[in-house]
Amino acid sequence: MLLYPAEPFAGRVPDEAYALELAEAERHGLKAALVDFEELDGGNTPRALRWVPRADVGGVAVYRGWMMRPETYDALHDALRERGWTLVNTPEQYRHTHHLPLSYDLIADVTPRTVWVPAATPSEVNRAAVREALASFGPHPVIVKDYVKSRKHEWAEACFIPDASDDDAMRVVETFLARQAEQFQGGLVLRAFERFAALATHSRSGMPLTREYRLFVLDGRVVTSDAYWEEGEYGNEEVPLAQFDAVARRVRSRFFTMDVAQREDGAWRVVELGDGQVAGLPERADRARLYDALEKLT
Ligand SMILES: Nc1ncnc2c1ncn2[C@@H]1O[C@H](COP(=O)(O)OP(=O)(O)O)[C@@H](O)[C@H]1O
Ligand SMILES: [Mg+2]
Repeated sequence: MLLYPAEPFAGRVPDEAYALELAEAERHGLKAALVDFEELDGGNTPRALRWVPRADVGGVAVYRGWMMRPETYDALHDALRERGWTLVNTPEQYRHTHHLPLSYDLIADVTPRTVWVPAATPSEVNRAAVREALASFGPHPVIVKDYVKSRKHEWAEACFIPDASDDDAMRVVETFLARQAEQFQGGLVLRAFERFAALATHSRSGMPLTREYRLFVLDGRVVTSDAYWEEGEYGNEEVPLAQFDAVARRVRSRFFTMDVAQREDGAWRVVELGDGQVAGLPERADRARLYDALEKLT
């Protein structure tokens, strides 16, 4: 069974953002149900699942929708279990790719060097530890994010630090923390900035668009690989799928995404991992292919 968020406060209507996927699921003969995401997010899990049927014989459920905190995923997982459904990823598997530090060691050889300072809220981030972490990068550029997200659309103010040894570096960190506010998750993350091959277009936010690809991985196999950005000319490079298949098999999750990009020196790198259930399918992606794979699962 596939689960999708309902349109907020509109009753049993699929969220427009997932309508095409729901149609794809139905074309594949897959059962689909809606989840009231606002209720789920608010902690009212039984009510959130009021449109979800009981499983007759038990079965695998796959959610495709908005990101949620690990605690919310725990609640979703348990409530579905009571209805006879097993979510494709255990709560532990969800955390593994949703919170960057948990899978970092497994992909450290293929992703930019990363350090983090755990903290529950922005104000609790230990500034001395951040300064120490910044110093470890020397006079080089770094990227700021938390365990889950960056503020890439506020590139110059809250994401990119041109020189980690400069006094201005802390200002970008503080801007990120202030703006992330309630959305902040897990802790502060700093990553060495690597030069990836650029796309032909430039965004208004000043963020350099790179030729990033999103790979969906199911049970250790890359099932789709598509251009991540909607616009811009990708070159005719081929994503080295065999190489990433090998990386994918190390990751402890049944269903996840791996965003990859080629560095200017030719090396292919993992930009980030994410849970396959809460990662957007790129506009240019082959929906049918993803659902061909999901069909075999459920
Ligand atoms: N270490 C890095 N080196 C170079 N560019 C990076 C690095 N990390 C992120 N980026 C760029 O910033 C964007 C946002 O970073 P990402 O880790 O994907 O955060 P988010 O979770 O917000 O998508 C990426 O799409 C990539 O273009
Ligand atoms: Mg990203």
